[in-house]
Amino acid sequence: MVGRVGVRPPALCALLVALLAGAQPMSDLEIEQNRDAVATMFSDAFSGYMKAAFPHDELRPISGGWTDSLIELGNVPSPRRDGYSGVALTLLDSMDTLAVLGNHSEFAEAVRWVGEHVSFDQDAIVSVFETTIRALGGLLSAHVLAAGAMPGFAHMRVGGYDGALLRLARDLGDRLLPAFEQAPRATGLPWPFVHLQRGLCEQPVAEQCTAGVGTSILEFALLSNLTADERYARASLGALGRLWARRSAHDLLGTTLNIHTGAWINPLASIGAGVDSFFEYLAKGARLLDSSELHAMFDSAYAAVGAHLQTGPHFAVADMNDPASRRQPAHGALQAFWPGLQCLVGDARDAARTHEVHMQAFDKYGAMPENYSVRAGRGEGRVFAGHEPYPLRPEVAESTLALYRATGDHAYLRFGARMIASLNRVAKAPFGYASVRSVATGALEDHMPSFFLAETLKYLFLLFDLRNPLHAQAGVLLSTEAHLFPTLGASGLPHDVWLALGVGKGREASSGELRQC
Ligand SMILES: *[C@@H]1O[C@H](CO)[C@@H](O)[C@H](O)[C@H]1NC(C)=O
Ligand SMILES: *[C@@H]1O[C@H](CO)[C@@H](O)[C@H](O)[C@H]1NC(C)=O
Ligand SMILES: *[C@@H]1O[C@H](CO)[C@@H](O)[C@H](O)[C@H]1NC(C)=O
Repeated sequence: MVGRVGVRPPALCALLVALLAGAQPMSDLEIEQNRDAVATMFSDAFSGYMKAAFPHDELRPISGGWTDSLIELGNVPSPRRDGYSGVALTLLDSMDTLAVLGNHSEFAEAVRWVGEHVSFDQDAIVSVFETTIRALGGLLSAHVLAAGAMPGFAHMRVGGYDGALLRLARDLGDRLLPAFEQAPRATGLPWPFVHLQRGLCEQPVAEQCTAGVGTSILEFALLSNLTADERYARASLGALGRLWARRSAHDLLGTTLNIHTGAWINPLASIGAGVDSFFEYLAKGARLLDSSELHAMFDSAYAAVGAHLQTGPHFAVADMNDPASRRQPAHGALQAFWPGLQCLVGDARDAARTHEVHMQAFDKYGAMPENYSVRAGRGEGRVFAGHEPYPLRPEVAESTLALYRATGDHAYLRFGARMIASLNRVAKAPFGYASVRSVATGALEDHMPSFFLAETLKYLFLLFDLRNPLHAQAGVLLSTEAHLFPTLGASGLPHDVWLALGVGKGREASSGELRQC
């Protein structure tokens, strides 16, 4: 069990239900209709991608075109297009959604195609973070499903499957490893970008974000477990430990740092952009590996957020070294994952209050603006100029699902139904669903991010598919990209791998030789 607070007294649960009361219970028929509506949305968007964009990375849902976008993700300074021909990113990302939807034939076909055709042997520079969570995570999850080894999903076993996706995952893991193994010696902090064929030799970016360092333990630990090759888990734990060693006296981390010096470039602590999944992976890593070390790190980090950033349902941005002096209120779409994390660690009551603010922002605009302001206490949203897009992000749906599973309150089903209606009203496009460029004007962007199929629709489907095998499985976790990962327990990694975490020791664990280019 992860988390400071395990069980809430019944009186508080009753209070929570009373607070949210007023929502009409949703009938079984209505729940089923919503589930079918999400399945139809998935099928429209997935077949739109397969017809118009596959095997390229992502769909242009308005024009029916495509984009090889993996090389653009993570704010790469200047994407180099020549030499990169796509890895069917949307398919990699949505294979396990097909499994969650119970579509065995389409899942098996995707597994076969990816195993035969996808190659990462490309002359291209990619974001380690984005490639890890979308591509590596998607491959590992689909591998475990296809092998019939995902708890609750044995029916997804693919006859004759020979482990091709794990071979591909391992090949990709080897291409990502130089970011860790050739980290600058002074800090041991990993590089944010990597050249898929040549390792690091072409990318000089030294500004790394907290989430970029702290979001690989699920994928790298599972890869190490499945391949019996410790290097991946060792690299990921080492990076995490060295990042943690750079926290402030308040147990806060900033947003970005320089990997040559370890100095914080942006010392603002938050739960939003650039930091978010760092917290998530401490909590989920602790659960995946039944690790008291990660659990203790999470508890400290979570307590620091509660003490220095949280005021009631709201979360501020503040200086990691002097959180009292430079506190700014902040409301952003990425923060909306936090209530889901709180449910995971047993704080559903707090989660409900925070999620209320996010639901109001979504209801007000029919979409989740990237940033908005809130008038004191009233949840009255106003979009900051210039921060108006809604790129079909999953976080609000994720927290809605977590809160419904934690409380059983039909207010969350009602909200999910409003999300479905909204998406169909504001984002439906001829070939799929389009990112919203401005929630104020309703203008659309000709882009459907792969995570819309991997995450947003998966969470919404799970919200209404009450008998989905996932709900009965304590043995399956969802990654930050909503990929299904089987929990491994304390025997998931050999004991000495944990030494790499070296909590509190900082820099000396830096491994690997510097390769001359
Ligand atoms: C599985 O997916 C395919 C392709 O989207 C679709 O044609 C088929 O109807 C789906 N089957 C089920 C049972 O949903
Ligand atoms: C708005 O949100 C985006 C992403 O969610 C973030 O990168 C940016 O820093 C936020 N801006 C403000 C003013 O909060
Ligand atoms: C993988 O994890 C399982 C427990 O879930 C464990 O029994 C097995 O030994 C692990 N494999 C390796 C190579 O560490």
